[in-house]
Amino acid sequence: MIDNKKVLFSGMQATGNLTLGNYLGALKNWVSLSDEYECFYSVVDMHSITIRQDPATLRKRARALLTLYIAAGLDPEKNCIYYQSHVSGHAELSWILSCFTYMGELNRMTQFKDKAAKHADNINAGLFTYPVLMAADILLYQADVVPVGIDQMQHLELTRDIAQRFNGIYGDVFTIPEAYIGKVGAKIMSLQDPSKKMSKSDENPNGSIYLMDDPDTIRRKCKRAVTDSLGEFRYSDEQPGLHNLIDIYCSCTGKTPDEVVSEFSGSGYGQFKEAVGEAVVSILDPLQKRVAELEKDKSYIDSVIKNNAEKANYYAQKTLRKVQKKVGFPEKIR
Ligand code: TRP
Repeated sequence: MIDNKKVLFSGMQATGNLTLGNYLGALKNWVSLSDEYECFYSVVDMHSITIRQDPATLRKRARALLTLYIAAGLDPEKNCIYYQSHVSGHAELSWILSCFTYMGELNRMTQFKDKAAKHADNINAGLFTYPVLMAADILLYQADVVPVGIDQMQHLELTRDIAQRFNGIYGDVFTIPEAYIGKVGAKIMSLQDPSKKMSKSDENPNGSIYLMDDPDTIRRKCKRAVTDSLGEFRYSDEQPGLHNLIDIYCSCTGKTPDEVVSEFSGSGYGQFKEAVGEAVVSILDPLQKRVAELEKDKSYIDSVIKNNAEKANYYAQKTLRKVQKKVGFPEKIR
């Protein structure tokens, strides 16, 4: 707890181009949580180097992501928005926690197996211990809740196991974090294959709407979205393409699926796809303008980076000192 509020931690990687799925599924919901929770939102650049990165690109993308957090409506006075690499406690706690994590546990992580298969030429130890760093992120701030997608649930379970193991040995050191599962309809699927999540690493660029796509590209991608040949306007699992478009439309407009079905029941898919395109443009266009405005204000963004890194460090050090003492590290002489 910080100031009587529960603590929330989440992070995103600045690799790849963020998609509408990242925005509607995660970022947009984060904004609504900042009153209820004391929020830490990290740009997890230390995780990014588990896959080889071009340094200049990583630096640029990390800043763009941090700027996007603010553009999306996260007030940096209320939310701690910072780079993971600016708080050395992440690495320090990660080392300690790695001594309380079993090889067998890490071997079971499905994301490691997937990534190792995808990057067979660079299966480094960091890729293997990635979930330990993630546990350190969360436990360092004594987070109560962690909004994560289903693909990160296994890592969160491991985090809980590590925390419980540590507490079992040393007493109540860590808060045991819970997953925060967002509202329904927030999971956005590929426009070209609605059985797959809309992903920043999709090889088919038409499957994803990128947050920085221009209006015409957005309209075109929506128009080309895969639907079905049933020709009936329903919100049903048998029509996954249409289902996904309705979800997107609802997320952008705040309408319910029932309302959308009655609104469009007499019209063809084509007409609805156009409406989806306009709805997405009406969300992304202002977001892009806000990003462009913020990017011009270099000193403001710099001050957010500096102040929030200090704030994050303050809380991180509190936990870290406690942990170091528990495991038997000698006290520093001041
Ligand atoms: N691994 C997460 C992902 O790829 C990002 C992440 C890193 C994270 N540390 C975290 C998410 C801590 C939640 C909490 O999506």
